[in-house]
Amino acid sequence: MIREMRAAIFDLDGVIVNTAKYHYLVWKRLANELGFDFTQTDNERLKGVSRTRSLEILLEIGGLTLDDAVKSQLAKKKNDWYVDYIYHMDESEILPGAAEYLRAIRAKGVKTALGSASKNAPLILERLGISSLFDVIVDGNKVSQAKPDPEVFLCAAEGLNMLPAHCVVFEDAEAGIEAAHRAGMSAVGIGKANVLQDADIIISGLSELMILSAA
Ligand code: BG6
Ligand code: MG
Repeated sequence: MIREMRAAIFDLDGVIVNTAKYHYLVWKRLANELGFDFTQTDNERLKGVSRTRSLEILLEIGGLTLDDAVKSQLAKKKNDWYVDYIYHMDESEILPGAAEYLRAIRAKGVKTALGSASKNAPLILERLGISSLFDVIVDGNKVSQAKPDPEVFLCAAEGLNMLPAHCVVFEDAEAGIEAAHRAGMSAVGIGKANVLQDADIIISGLSELMILSAA
């Protein structure tokens, strides 16, 4: 059940923008270079997961064990390819209803924060032209524990000077829903009920909330 929302904390990838398609293309390219395939279903396991952990999962899928120096080169290579995609993004890639919903709740006095595992979050927000829609930005450069650890959301609440009980998290990943609950926050799941069954409510996208608030 969703309590009073004084602050809203948004995940980035899959909630504000569909970067999962770019992550998928570059992880697949890396897997193919390493000699194995990587499917869309495999990619689901990487949603919400840090870059380092994502690489470990990818290597598990390929049955490879590599030393840390090689892993760090591969993570850098993947990120260089990914950043090439991000540089070509623009506001047309904001998911339907996301910017409108942020503007609508801010107009009602709700504080907004980003709570993302991505170290590329500031660059993505800048490319989309929506950095100013967030009072606080917490990204993968600012936290040491990956979701489902609650650190990213607790850090966002602290930055907003809000109690966790007054924060609602918007998330598309199972690990993010768990992180929100461990932080003592309500969680709106964005996506499919079979993946996000632990969310307090589940919607298909932020455009759904714009329709509800207009009704
Ligand atoms: C999350 C994505 O938001 O950020 C993951 O869902 C990604 O797929 C993670 O691995 C880290 O992103 P980046 O941009 O720091 O490699
Ligand atoms: Mg996400």
